[in-house]
Amino acid sequence: MKGDKSFDVVAKGLFFLAVTIIVLFIILFTISGGFMKQNYLNPWSKEYSKRYSDPRICLAARGILAASGHNMQPWTLKYDPTDSMSFYLYANRERITKEVDPEYRQMMISQGTFLEYVLVAGEKEGWNVQIKLFPNGEYDEGNLVHSMDTLPVAKITLKSAQPEDTPLYNAMYMPDTNRMPYWDHELSPYEISSLESVSETSDISIKVYKELSDRSYISTCVMKGATTEAGVPRVMEETNTIFRPNEHQKNQYRYGFSVEGQGTYGLMKPVLQGMLTIFPSLNSGKAASQNFIKSTQTSVDSTPAYVMIVTERNDRMTQVRSGMIYSQLVLTGHTMGLAMQPLSQVLEEYPEMNPIYTEFKQTYAPEGGTIQMLFRAGFPKGRMPFSMRQDVMGFFVTQ
Ligand SMILES: Cc1cc2nc3c(=O)[nH]c(=O)nc-3n(C[C@H](O)[C@H](O)[C@H](O)COP(=O)(O)O)c2cc1C
Repeated sequence: MKGDKSFDVVAKGLFFLAVTIIVLFIILFTISGGFMKQNYLNPWSKEYSKRYSDPRICLAARGILAASGHNMQPWTLKYDPTDSMSFYLYANRERITKEVDPEYRQMMISQGTFLEYVLVAGEKEGWNVQIKLFPNGEYDEGNLVHSMDTLPVAKITLKSAQPEDTPLYNAMYMPDTNRMPYWDHELSPYEISSLESVSETSDISIKVYKELSDRSYISTCVMKGATTEAGVPRVMEETNTIFRPNEHQKNQYRYGFSVEGQGTYGLMKPVLQGMLTIFPSLNSGKAASQNFIKSTQTSVDSTPAYVMIVTERNDRMTQVRSGMIYSQLVLTGHTMGLAMQPLSQVLEEYPEMNPIYTEFKQTYAPEGGTIQMLFRAGFPKGRMPFSMRQDVMGFFVTQ
């Protein structure tokens, strides 16, 4: 009958469509490397550090979970040849992002984030972690990259101690950066004071901004910063170079950005990765600039509070200490269910950003201080996937 025939045609059409979608998905899944083991996530397992008996390696395995600018993980570790309980942290000059961070300020903040995680892991596991910053002297600013190679940022010495329970420990195993929308819930006075009291020294202050007038003004500046950055090809290109579009590259490099950074997971991940592998232009040039502006807009549109770390001085030691405080803030935030995302563009020191940077600084650090970190904070609407991490042994070099 006629009705049966047209039903047959529709059913066949649907069947054909379903098969096409499944075949396409399998193709994209394969191209994206979906069958590969995700070695770049190994360090996020709590069992990971247990395979090492040397406490320096065990604690470093937690240090590398910390946030770093552009996820560059710019850390080089060296054992102290004269003391089996000491090791050194150096800034890895091969991980400089000089276009976006010409003063290497974010690079130094990222040294501090690592150190704080080592401290927290030590507290939990019975190690008194003593950190001496720039133990062999400060950097020569005229010969900075050479200084990074030759002068350690920190000497870390472990002394056996009583293990202490710290709520910050479990928080280290959560992604530090959440770029998802946040709920429109105000931070409570308790949450604000818990964050603002993280810094115990007068030269580094933390301020939470939750009033609408501040949030609107900061959001406008953040968007101006993002739009400016999107229009500077060399900065965008630098970011694009470290984008890893598929599992092959993520396992190969294990640092930089990937689609997870925008909260992509589940079935969408292999689809997007497959597409980006076949059509890299989807995330480069103009498309990358538009994606960046759009994602920043999404972030600022759902931000119940901004937080700033402001310092009186801007020397290397202060930058490292700001990074330690940033890690403490992230971990303290996690214990209260808060998520965070730095929005650094407006703080960046390359020439095109200068007018916006100067205006922002005059508004929020009028007395000649430096805003080391600006980030949004709130209760996230979604969980973030983990970002890549290198193997801990890859950070250790022997002289
Ligand atoms: C100094 C510094 C600056 C950062 N700036 C930004 C930023 O502007 N935008 C952003 O989304 N994330 C920023 N981040 C977060 C890093 O991109 C993030 O830590 C890294 O990709 C690893 O991800 P995870 O923190 O979730 O482990 C920054 C982190 C640091 C330490």
